[in-house]
Amino acid sequence: MDISSFKPLVNNAFTALNNSYSPYSKFKVGACIQTKSNKYFLGTNIENISFGLTVCAERNAIFSAYSNGYKKEDISAIAVVTNDDIITTPCGACRQVLSELLPHNTPIILSNGKESKITYIDELLPDSFKSKNI
Ligand code: THU
Repeated sequence: MDISSFKPLVNNAFTALNNSYSPYSKFKVGACIQTKSNKYFLGTNIENISFGLTVCAERNAIFSAYSNGYKKEDISAIAVVTNDDIITTPCGACRQVLSELLPHNTPIILSNGKESKITYIDELLPDSFKSKNI
């Protein structure tokens, strides 16, 4: 898969990163969901003084897509970006959420602006907890 075709998606994720509310960690994360109809849903990490209430960028992006009426089958890709020295991968909680809400073959593009890679939820969270009812 050609990573350059995901440039608009990655750029939108960096736009989201600029909106990060992260006064405690000072670690900005941006995410963006792309739909098959080429709509983009941005998400960023939003922290709280009650630290456990922080919500990660990936979850905000995918919840936004669903909140606007898009479903699993409408999603074509997700990008997650930081400005860190190393590429950041989604935390465990986000992996569990993505495993339920993304089609299992969705490209997950990770970038720090210098390097990028494509991964998949089955690689990030093999043998995930699932229900046969969904
Ligand atoms: N963070 C994300 O937004 N996504 C992840 O997958 C990893 C962690 C955020 C949460 C917190 O605001 C900051 O990064 C530092 O952990």
